[in-house]
Amino acid sequence: MNMPKFQTYGRRCILVNGNHKNLSGKIDISGSKNASLPILASAPLLNSRFLLKNVPKIQDVTTVFNILEYLNVTIHVKNNCAYIDSSSSFTSIKRPIPYDLCQKTRASILFLGSLLSRFHKAALYYPGGCKLGFRPIDYHIEGLKKLGVEFYFNGDLIVAKAKKIKGTTFELPFPSVGATENLIMASIFANDKVTLMNASIEPEVVDLINFLNASNAQIKLYPKERIVEIYGVNPEDLRLKTPYTVISDRIEAITYAVLCASLGGELLMKNVPLNHIGKPLDILRSIGVDIRKLDEKSIIISSQLENLESNLEIVTGPYPEFPTDAHPIFVPLLLRANGTTILKERVYKDRFQYVNELKKMSANIILNEEDRSIIINGEQKLHGAKVRATDLRGGMALMIAASYAEGSTIIADSDQIMRGYEDVILKFRSLGVDVYEC
Ligand code: EPZ
Repeated sequence: MNMPKFQTYGRRCILVNGNHKNLSGKIDISGSKNASLPILASAPLLNSRFLLKNVPKIQDVTTVFNILEYLNVTIHVKNNCAYIDSSSSFTSIKRPIPYDLCQKTRASILFLGSLLSRFHKAALYYPGGCKLGFRPIDYHIEGLKKLGVEFYFNGDLIVAKAKKIKGTTFELPFPSVGATENLIMASIFANDKVTLMNASIEPEVVDLINFLNASNAQIKLYPKERIVEIYGVNPEDLRLKTPYTVISDRIEAITYAVLCASLGGELLMKNVPLNHIGKPLDILRSIGVDIRKLDEKSIIISSQLENLESNLEIVTGPYPEFPTDAHPIFVPLLLRANGTTILKERVYKDRFQYVNELKKMSANIILNEEDRSIIINGEQKLHGAKVRATDLRGGMALMIAASYAEGSTIIADSDQIMRGYEDVILKFRSLGVDVYEC
């Protein structure tokens, strides 16, 4: 079945009836959104047909599918498998990737690297994605210029050209996930070795590297040194012969572990990327949540609310530090546990828009914008309210808080949540949480 043409959800909302106690049930973690998106954006590099497995059925993926279809790449989707053909069907691109598609997801910017490698040119618009303060793309541009790419800008339009990609060494000012992914894809056919310093080593970047190496690319990763070395290969040789399975979504796994911790109860979690969520699980254990490992990819989370105590300082940072995407998700739990926690956001300039929405639910959170930190006192009683999902993870924070708050909550703009969590309503309902699309 082909993916529907570009589907827009418009302004959806969900209703959550709160007071839920003692979660119980089983959750299967889906494929990773932030690994699927760069891997799909790299499809133009492969002059072949290939099969991708464990791709989550979420709006952001649909948007990237539609960008690929716009570029004449053929896609057939069945369940969580994507059959992709970017071989001869691919014609060189004549027009920019449409503005409305670029604006729908941050991942659209990743087509810069793959189109430059395949066609030595690319034209697209400034990316969209979660509103987390200004999200520049200067590291992407700076690194691509070092590789020999020339740019022309006109408002949000970005046109890039490169006769050839030359070997170089580029040190990223910050271990940017997207810039690392873009520079890897732009260097895949380079004339000489490209070395990236201070690179992102997030599991999603590693999954892109593993996918490209499985397609005969030559990429070496030195995680401790944060160095990536890319040795250019012949474009004809880049093809995936066996199906590739995308890693599980570590942020979704953290989400459901925190949901269980926040409501109390017991949750069996399967397909969990345990080796990617060490830090958040350590914090849950230190708060008093019981986590039992059943096998390499399964855990049981148990939580008694009266035993939860959190007097911590949590600081977000590039992997393997505490992930910034888990910051909003943890706040509903910290509002419940006994004690006081300081959470410092060190990746984004402004990831606090969700705080005002939680305050509508009677949450008392002290925000220090200058220090980009919040102080959360625990044992708070939250009440249902009409709130708005400001972004994906902020919206999820509202869903978790609404699940235990007194009364009912309406979350407007819930498409923000749906675009990043597969079957989120079904999964919450399967655990007994009374939630509906309204
Ligand atoms: C990826 O965004 C993820 N998105 C984000 O997940 C995640 O929060 C982020 O990495 C950090 O882990 C996808 O993978 C699709 P960055 P990305 O470049 O690549 C600044 C979610 O909820 N920066 O590592 O855009 C930037 O403003 C989303 O799933 C520059 O200044 O993140 C930010 O402050 C939200 N200039 C910091 O670096 C640049 O050129 C980290 O950004 C690029 C980034």
